Amino acid sequence: MIIYTHISLKNILYNKTKKGDIDYLLINIYAHMFTEQELAQARAILKANKQENLLRFIDKLDNNKKEKIIKQILNLDFTQLNKLYEETKSSAEIINKKIENIKYVDEYKLSDEAKERYTNIGEKVIKNNQYAVVTMAGGQGTRLEHNGPKGTFKVDVDPEPKYLFQILAENLQRANKKYNVILPWYIMTSTENNEETVNFFEKHEYFGYPKENVMFFTQGNLPILLENGDLIVDKDYTIKEAADGNGCIYSAMAKAGVLENMKKKNVKWIFIGAVDNILLNMVDPILLGLTIDEKNEAASKSVAKASPKEKVGAFCKINGVPSVIEYTELPEKMAEEVDEEGELLFGEAHIMCNLFSIQALEKVSKVQLPYHVAHKKSNYMNENEEFVKVTEPNAYKFEAFIFDAFNFFDDISILRGKREMDFAPIKNKVGNDSPDTAKELYNNYWKNTKI
Ligand code: UTP
Repeated sequence: MIIYTHISLKNILYNKTKKGDIDYLLINIYAHMFTEQELAQARAILKANKQENLLRFIDKLDNNKKEKIIKQILNLDFTQLNKLYEETKSSAEIINKKIENIKYVDEYKLSDEAKERYTNIGEKVIKNNQYAVVTMAGGQGTRLEHNGPKGTFKVDVDPEPKYLFQILAENLQRANKKYNVILPWYIMTSTENNEETVNFFEKHEYFGYPKENVMFFTQGNLPILLENGDLIVDKDYTIKEAADGNGCIYSAMAKAGVLENMKKKNVKWIFIGAVDNILLNMVDPILLGLTIDEKNEAASKSVAKASPKEKVGAFCKINGVPSVIEYTELPEKMAEEVDEEGELLFGEAHIMCNLFSIQALEKVSKVQLPYHVAHKKSNYMNENEEFVKVTEPNAYKFEAFIFDAFNFFDDISILRGKREMDFAPIKNKVGNDSPDTAKELYNNYWKNTKI
């Protein structure tokens, strides 16, 4: 292959052809631009990392596909990937860590005076246009099995079915009306669902939300590995990747210019929540006021665990710093421990309802959060070029978790809310935390709430 630089190629073409033709030609040439050198480099990298299998179909591919896979290889951090694979072989070391309970404030035990004070502090920030909301919508929603971005799922609530994104947009519009502001709304997507998400908002005219106040940004990806450590060839012959977990939101916000954009708008406090909780309170002056009053930079709303064995992460301190411990890591005996009032010591469930100051986000956007490994099902292209659909977990997926950022603060504020007021998640297709359970919570909430 002949290698031209963009400049020399352009000069040659401009000397020989008309401008309109050149632009078309350039677009096409640049669309599949890679060099023999790059291909050789990619092969060498794969050899050094024992991943040569990846290129077994390369000669059959067209230039576009070749370019894509070569770029993926050259951009991959194999040192990190090899380390992550090694870590799948050792179980998480929680044994030697000191786990303690963490203090929280129960919203429903606050005196009227305290509630009013926190509300006033919080409302002042909101009314001063110093508050913004971020929705994490980059997940794959595998358990729900909905075809499309999770936010495009329609829930059969009263009085008429609504999309998850619509419910969020309407919640924010109510807050806008109440505080006479237009909150900047940032939505994190994945490379997989970004286009569909944006198109969905366009098609539905942003559900009435002022479009110029909505900004989408996309999180990163990490490859999935088969159990033997091999990278996976996907249906389209590229390396199979998946979103790198909601904990990558911080670096994604910095990279995409979201933090800069917030600073330009003089935003001081940022709420970050999930796409799939239809009772999510994204604009909560009490949570905000409490956090400011306690002089913290980060905060979270919790609900009491339904039972010691409920499969949710619980707030605690690990080695002295605020953390969320996964239910799989919390020893059974500790999960059942209670305080003098009979409350579970590790009973505050993390419900993806988080608040940060802009400084806090800047700080955590610069640190690398740990990746957690999940054993998942992943279809793959086998050596006979057949795309295998699997029924059992066969691969490792790596994800950073949003709550691991709490480790970087000496303290955080935790406000315990109530399930029936704050938490109606849609995770599973049926059973617990499904559209049916969420719908019931939502309908009951709105039956008892006046706007
Ligand atoms: P979950 O961890 O519950 O994942 O996400 P999920 O994608 O909704 O569902 P499963 O596990 O595949 O069934 C909690 C929140 O974090 C977001 C989700 O969109 C949801 O709002 N998330 C998750 C991301 O934005 N990016 C990710 O990489 C993962």
